Amino acid sequence: MTRGARSIDGTVAGKRVIVCAGSGGVGKTTTAAAIAAGLAERGQRTIVLTIDPARRLADALDLPAAGNEEHRVDDERLAAAGLAGAGELWAMTLDAKLTFDALIERNAPDAETRDRVLANPIYRQLSNAVAGSQEYMAMEKLYELHQAGAYDVLVLDTPPSRNALDFLEAPGKLARFVDSRSLQVFRASGRAGLGLFGRGAGAMLSVLERATGVELLRDLAEFFNAFGGMAEGFRDRARHVEELLRAEETTFLLVTSPRAAAIADAGYFHAKLASSGMPFGALIVNRVSKPVAETGDGPDSELADLLGAPLARKVRHDIDDRNRLAERDAANVERMRSEIRDGELLQVPELSGDVHDLEGLALVAGQLFARRR
Ligand SMILES: Nc1ncnc2c1ncn2[C@@H]1O[C@H](COP(=O)(O)OP(=O)(O)OP(=O)(O)O)[C@@H](O)[C@H]1O
Ligand SMILES: [Mg+2]
Repeated sequence: MTRGARSIDGTVAGKRVIVCAGSGGVGKTTTAAAIAAGLAERGQRTIVLTIDPARRLADALDLPAAGNEEHRVDDERLAAAGLAGAGELWAMTLDAKLTFDALIERNAPDAETRDRVLANPIYRQLSNAVAGSQEYMAMEKLYELHQAGAYDVLVLDTPPSRNALDFLEAPGKLARFVDSRSLQVFRASGRAGLGLFGRGAGAMLSVLERATGVELLRDLAEFFNAFGGMAEGFRDRARHVEELLRAEETTFLLVTSPRAAAIADAGYFHAKLASSGMPFGALIVNRVSKPVAETGDGPDSELADLLGAPLARKVRHDIDDRNRLAERDAANVERMRSEIRDGELLQVPELSGDVHDLEGLALVAGQLFARRR
């Protein structure tokens, strides 16, 4: 790895799938959008798959509330933000439920099974019930777009998961779920009637049925029966998604803040990528505090003359605080740099406001990509 001019260019060159991961609130969505914008500026047909973007960022990307639709960001607006380029910037908000529906549609053996599953009330609950299903659906959509081949580069934002690892395990989890014992029991009960649950459970369920007015057990058995029949398709799919994540054309960017808790998460995640055989590309330390540039180097008495003593003291205090923060961030970044030796480490400074428009994305992209010419 080069320690000279630091930029993301080398890391993303030739990649077709870029996954931005990290713990909650560190800037995954912002980074994913900025990298997609930077790649579009550099001539690539790029799409960013966002998850739950802030409303204002979604507006900036022209994303409607409805998910799973590909939208092109207007070239003139990109140009106005200083992001004019030869490529195209597209964006999409991932909707786990819609992706799940599409997955069922593809895997159902026939139209009748498909309709039965989609119309089943249990199905609605399931997308929340399967651990990591949101993560899995992000991967699923990524794979689908990759197969369709309409874009040069796919940049994937990932959901905020507490340990930031859920989505790595999501394909396997879903495959295990369809194979699981509880699912088998439900499938069997669909064939054998209520017997398997024993008298107690049967009585409880019928009370539930009466209370809710829903034919709960029948719905459950029917749903799991149809769903279980798709197990092979799901397993297959999960394997392909995992293969894509490990592929040469894929890279993972870990996003972190320079603060201790996020750094610990990033370190853990970095190790996890290695042990799962997933390709690590770069660590992006976002929102790094920079020292306050002091205007002139006159003594504090000048500040006091200018502002009066009480206000001058307060200003001095604020400047000292911010500089201490900057020192601490710089020390943390250096520590990370010495630990992460198999990829690039890049910094994005704390900007003066939220990043919620194309101009903001251009600023972040400007920090990550090398200046051209
Ligand atoms: N470099 C920066 N300077 C200032 N604000 C930033 C910067 N990067 C991100 N932000 C702001 O921080 C907030 C969190 O960013 P973002 O939504 O990208 O994080 P996230 O990791 O996607 O969060 P979540 O885990 O909730 O999905 C947003 O309001 C964003 O505008
Ligand atoms: Mg986000």
